[in-house]
Amino acid sequence: MTTRPRNPAPGTPAPGKLPLPELAGMKRRGDRIVMVTAYDAPSGRLADDAGVDLILVGDSAAMVMLGHDSTVPATVDEMLVLTRAVNRGARRPLVIADLPFGSYQVSDEQALETSVRFLKEAGADAVKLEGAGPMLSRVRALTGTGIPVVGHIGLTPQTATALGGFKAQGRNAARAVQLYEDAIALEAAGCFLLVLEAVPAPVAARITEALEIPTIGIGAGAECDGQVLVWHDLLGLYEGTPPRFVKQYADLAPVIRDALGRYAADVRDGAFPEPRHTYSMSDAELALFEHELAEMHR
Ligand code: KIV
Repeated sequence: MTTRPRNPAPGTPAPGKLPLPELAGMKRRGDRIVMVTAYDAPSGRLADDAGVDLILVGDSAAMVMLGHDSTVPATVDEMLVLTRAVNRGARRPLVIADLPFGSYQVSDEQALETSVRFLKEAGADAVKLEGAGPMLSRVRALTGTGIPVVGHIGLTPQTATALGGFKAQGRNAARAVQLYEDAIALEAAGCFLLVLEAVPAPVAARITEALEIPTIGIGAGAECDGQVLVWHDLLGLYEGTPPRFVKQYADLAPVIRDALGRYAADVRDGAFPEPRHTYSMSDAELALFEHELAEMHR
């Protein structure tokens, strides 16, 4: 007999889910936190099988999944579909939905409405938003309502144009101090986790030391409490020159291209499908079928 309630209250973690407060415990114990992006159910399942702690359904989907050249075009409806799919595949990892550009910047109310959709309609465990300053009020509004929020500072791709492109941030003392202050303010506003993207390692290290909440680095050095990589970068699915901070653990694009090429050749020369890929019927049923056809065309 299961003790799980049939209709758990909204926000009740699924059985086996990593408890969110455990992340702070991991930081205290010095256990590194593993995060990866994912955008569909099989990837969610594979990340879960591999023991990944956190899955970010990043708005990087706009680029690596949908073919845009920035994250800006991602829409709430697109991100809801992807988040729901990842959530169907992943059990233990916490699933974090990236709020797309324009879905939270307008007002605290807009941020709340969008985030509620991600929790209710897509089963996200938390949401992520970019920036500090005016976004602190968004973080307070969301966390005040019980919605767990991940912050993201440094290179914030949604505002990459204003930052001068996809390039490292906080490389002079004044900008580094600003990042440090933003990190402290985001923690005070209620974030339970902070992503630091493309930030010099010593700056990320000082921020990590100053915060009680864990930091997750992407191009922010080894002193962060955890790391995140984009699925397609990690697996070699996104071709082109990867950013400096990417470590590629597999080179799957050529493997897939080769498999598709062999499939196409097999179809064209009749080598696929073979008898073992097809379904049979009894001689009697086949004879009856032929008889019925002959009758139809008499
Ligand atoms: O959208 C994304 O994938 C991200 C990560 C790079 C942190 O925000």
